[in-house]
Amino acid sequence: MQKTLVIIKPDAVQRRLIGKVISRFEEKGLEIIGLKMTTISEKLAKENYSIHNGKDYFEKLIKFMTSGPVVMLVLRGENTIEVTRKLMGATFGYEATPGTIRGDFAMSKRFNLIHGSDSVESAEREISLFFENGDLMQNKQSGVKWIYDDAV
Ligand code: TYD
Ligand code: MG
Repeated sequence: MQKTLVIIKPDAVQRRLIGKVISRFEEKGLEIIGLKMTTISEKLAKENYSIHNGKDYFEKLIKFMTSGPVVMLVLRGENTIEVTRKLMGATFGYEATPGTIRGDFAMSKRFNLIHGSDSVESAEREISLFFENGDLMQNKQSGVKWIYDDAV
């Protein structure tokens, strides 16, 4: 099964949206196999967003991502990367479709509540930046058989 990294960004934490955001993933049927609250260092923020280095928004993005606590999740499920990106919605809050997390709660380009990995390679790289392998739950959660079609 695929894994992805989600970061509930500082704006979402300050706006008391942690629970709502996590609920979207839980209700969809993705398994939470890693979870922590932390403040990201400048070094790790720059590594996480290294492909954006040199863009005009890069410095402000790093300042934002290191400005306060965030909540990090590792999600597991079939096609988790794509499913998570769909639940997040388009990058800019004002463009995101209602029903998505950004579409329902965000209005800004930068303060867009949530990060999600965009490929298998970036998910692996990003998860290893913030989690040790031993931090992630390996056991299958018992309710999962009712999420996919193998219960009966
Ligand atoms: P990007 O990876 O393009 O978006 P996403 O978060 O949907 O994967 O960009 C990373 C973050 O950089 C994005 O969440 C918000 C910020 N950003 C800006 O502030 N201005 C911009 O013009 C872009 C493209 C991104
Ligand atoms: Mg991205």
